[in-house]
Amino acid sequence: MLDLSTSIAGVKLKNPTILSSGILGTSPDPIKRAFENNAGAATIKSIGPEPRNGNNNPSVIDFGHGLLNAVGLPGPGYKNMDVEFNELSKIKEPVIWSIYGNDIKDFVNITKYILKYNPKIIELNISCPNKENGMLFSQDKKSAANVTKSVKNAAEKTIVIPKLSPNVTNIVEIAVACEKAGADAINAINTMQAMVINIDAKKPVLHYKKGGMSGPAIKPIAVRCVYDIYENIKIPIIGTGGITNGRDAIEMIQAGASAVGIGSAVYYRGINVFGKIVNEIKEWMQENDYNLIKELIGIAHK
Ligand SMILES: Cc1cc2nc3c(=O)[nH]c(=O)nc-3n(C[C@H](O)[C@H](O)[C@H](O)COP(=O)(O)O)c2cc1C
Repeated sequence: MLDLSTSIAGVKLKNPTILSSGILGTSPDPIKRAFENNAGAATIKSIGPEPRNGNNNPSVIDFGHGLLNAVGLPGPGYKNMDVEFNELSKIKEPVIWSIYGNDIKDFVNITKYILKYNPKIIELNISCPNKENGMLFSQDKKSAANVTKSVKNAAEKTIVIPKLSPNVTNIVEIAVACEKAGADAINAINTMQAMVINIDAKKPVLHYKKGGMSGPAIKPIAVRCVYDIYENIKIPIIGTGGITNGRDAIEMIQAGASAVGIGSAVYYRGINVFGKIVNEIKEWMQENDYNLIKELIGIAHK
């Protein structure tokens, strides 16, 4: 019998696929659809301190090797989301509540507010490149540690996972600082800062000009980040970036991820991408005589 179950800081996942933040919004229905399509966990779009419209279109483009987005964290702000939070809190499967703030106070206030909905896991989006100061916290180890520690103190028993940016010189030192500050796990990575220019229009393609790159183009970067982080921390890692099929997921797990985030692949392969990737992982395990997905975590380091 193949066993694809894994766990993130004590939370059991039936399989290692996790819907990444920002892909299907914060409404409970699409999150439920991810679970109906076999996701092991699902992350809501990052919720923030105040209402935000986000950036003008075009805000997401497919440039052939991945996506470039500058959606700019649109959302109603945490104080206007009780109806959604209430519904999300009824979902039995592991929902990951992603939050962002302009300063530590925002992160703490949002954490305290959502605690009444009993989130199992809170993810800290300290790495959004599409917003002024969006990456402030993930580019400096002291800031990353401070926000992690403050949220951890406020979060009571809830699991706290900082999501790191690849747009740094040394992602390992940020991960180590977060672990020391009490993080229960690490998510690596958010999008890479990038830009595409339409040479005929002689203009950047995105209205916001620059954006965050995701999808297949960033997979080797994400694998390298996870591989390096795995050698330096003990807490589990969610490996995110360019996972499109079962082989990609296995590669990320072999690099050291206990579970994989899946974002752009929902665009490429549809909402049933989770079930598809689970089947592809199973096929690979059968062909290679593995029964437990856990046996594969970090195996490329041996
Ligand atoms: C359109 C879009 C919106 C995103 N919004 C968020 C967000 O709100 N919060 C966040 O932490 N990451 C956000 N991300 C980043 C993804 O969660 C993920 O880290 C990144 O896309 C890399 O994974 P992928 O290659 O599987 O897409 C967004 C990505 C895309 C493409």
